[in-house]
Amino acid sequence: MDQSELSPARRRTFLTVMLAGIGAAVGAMFGWPVLRYLSPRSGADADARVRVPRDKVPVGGAHFFEFRGRPTVLLQMRPGEFTALTAVCTHLGCIVKWQQNKGEFLCPCHGGRFSATGEVLGGPPPAPLQNFPVVLDGDQLVIG
Ligand code: FES
Repeated sequence: MDQSELSPARRRTFLTVMLAGIGAAVGAMFGWPVLRYLSPRSGADADARVRVPRDKVPVGGAHFFEFRGRPTVLLQMRPGEFTALTAVCTHLGCIVKWQQNKGEFLCPCHGGRFSATGEVLGGPPPAPLQNFPVVLDGDQLVIG
């Protein structure tokens, strides 16, 4: 037998190790972005505040914007009364829509309904929409 040839058992071990290595590399390549997407954001912007001009929020209407990297909505149900809520449905994360004629939010994915204060009115959402503090500063609304 030639000394340069590998025995079938060593060849099998070599192939197993190579396939395991390639599998681990491919798993890491696809798994890392998924893990980053699913993991909570760092607390670096947890104290961030955002300013929105007051006139962007009509009475009875909604204004959608980004806050801490997530869709957020401002409402003014009565003149001078502002509410800021996350616009991300607590069921599976779809973005809720404001229905001005009904005065409530509707999630287009599975029909979840939320009140103007974020409480669950119906459908599968397990929890209310998160509320953020809003302070009026001149003609600006400060959220956060
Ligand atoms: S994601 Fe909103 S009801 Fe399912």
